[in-house]
Amino acid sequence: MNEKIIIFDTTLRDGEQSPGASLSIFEKVEIARQLEKLNVDVIEAGFPVSSPTQFEAVKRIAGEVGVTVAALARAKEIDIKSAYDAIKDAKKKRIHTFSSTSDFHIMGKFGDMRYGNSIEEKRKNVIKMSYDAVQYAKTFCDDVEFSAEDAGRTEIDYLAEVIEAAIMAGATTVNIPDTTGYRLPLEFGKFISELKKRVKNIDDAIISVHCHNDLGLAVANSIATLHSGARQVECTINGIGERAGNASLEEFVMALHVRNDILPYKTDINTREIYNTSKMVSGFTGMIVQPNKAIVGENAFAHESGIHQDGMLKNRNTYEIMDPEKVGVPKTKIVLGRHSGRHGLKVRLNELGYTLENEELNKIYERFTKLADQKKEIFEDDLRVLMGDESLKENNYCDLDYLHVHIGTHTIPTATVKIKTKDGIKQESSTGDGPVDAVFNAIDRALDTKFKVESYKVRSVTSGREALGEVLIRLKDNGYAFTGRGVSTDIIEASAKAYLQAINYQVTHKSEVAATETVSM
Ligand code: KIV
Ligand code: ZN
Repeated sequence: MNEKIIIFDTTLRDGEQSPGASLSIFEKVEIARQLEKLNVDVIEAGFPVSSPTQFEAVKRIAGEVGVTVAALARAKEIDIKSAYDAIKDAKKKRIHTFSSTSDFHIMGKFGDMRYGNSIEEKRKNVIKMSYDAVQYAKTFCDDVEFSAEDAGRTEIDYLAEVIEAAIMAGATTVNIPDTTGYRLPLEFGKFISELKKRVKNIDDAIISVHCHNDLGLAVANSIATLHSGARQVECTINGIGERAGNASLEEFVMALHVRNDILPYKTDINTREIYNTSKMVSGFTGMIVQPNKAIVGENAFAHESGIHQDGMLKNRNTYEIMDPEKVGVPKTKIVLGRHSGRHGLKVRLNELGYTLENEELNKIYERFTKLADQKKEIFEDDLRVLMGDESLKENNYCDLDYLHVHIGTHTIPTATVKIKTKDGIKQESSTGDGPVDAVFNAIDRALDTKFKVESYKVRSVTSGREALGEVLIRLKDNGYAFTGRGVSTDIIEASAKAYLQAINYQVTHKSEVAATETVSM
């Protein structure tokens, strides 16, 4: 008999904390809908108290999907109330509250004397704060998860006391995060077994694990805890998340499938939606999946050498341990051309996991027809990139209206831009070291900005001369980073769009960034 493992997806919370990944509300709602198709058990939609945009995104998702929606809250009344307010319309809701439990974190976060003079006093205070937080969360909702942040580096007897107190206060799930990705598989499995022995009321709650990937072991560590009794695994699509990321959902789920002979567990994941979900998350976050990434990388099912190809033609099992179709990898990739209509586009986008309302469909159709004039064939990846393009972002401050660039072998690169902004049309010209630099300088002159370009990447979305170019950019302003993405068959135009999108992000989030400083985790 296979025991069920609860899949708690935190792509929209921990995943969005990845450096450079920022999602609009529209994109978060699309991802949440796709996660529902993937059939995850819980969607952690965000950290509502951290900003008005986070709050709004969690609220919109709560009203949109039928699966359990979790919202994160520190062990503080203000956070817990905000988390509840954001999820209260959800059909199924969970408040996820957390306290730091390792001495590293306690000294770092609760160093202040008001939490006690000695580490013993501070530890006692953390137990009380955790207990009170869970009890308060229970006044709003039955389903309460408690996480002991940095449990992986917490002394086990003390961790057991914290967990026991949280369960006593009513926690229905207790999460043991390896926050810094420090643990090794055998050791972490044993850690959970030992914890289980020490917590008297452990059977009153579900044990969850949340592993980070700093040593590349997040999935292995998660699997290693199943035999010890963990029944919820927290993970993200493509393994995105803080620093080196979280356990990758697709790797964990497929490991259970492929090695069911020694892992007698199951998930309810609809594995055929894995590929679409991975592509959607990568497209919207701008976090490119490495080609050799297990399960969802472009090369995961590619066979290059003659010997391998020959073996595969005779029998797929020679070099493949799973069927690519099982994870939703499509057999053919050509989709639409310039004669495709709005309905055809809508159907194809639905198949790729996007659920578009009329106004959004009209916008994307307009983009699609322009692209179809430039390219003969539109591939799935082109559609995904169009979906992630800046024109669908809500409430842009500025948009590119006109761009002219003059370059040549013995010419000083010069760019002229015309930008539609909420404050009217702005137009300027400038020179630069190259065409892209000239464009950025012209935009800076027009908008009276000056950013440091921290990173600039160009990639071709599909192959061939007419391929779409995607530019990902990261700007810095007073220590804060902002990312932008632009797409066009012309990479100079894509660069301008990416720069403007980063500025749009900066304009919308400027006040929130300042506020977030006081809501750091
Ligand atoms: O890594 C971590 O400890 C977390 C908690 C907030 C669950 O993300
Ligand atoms: Zn985490």
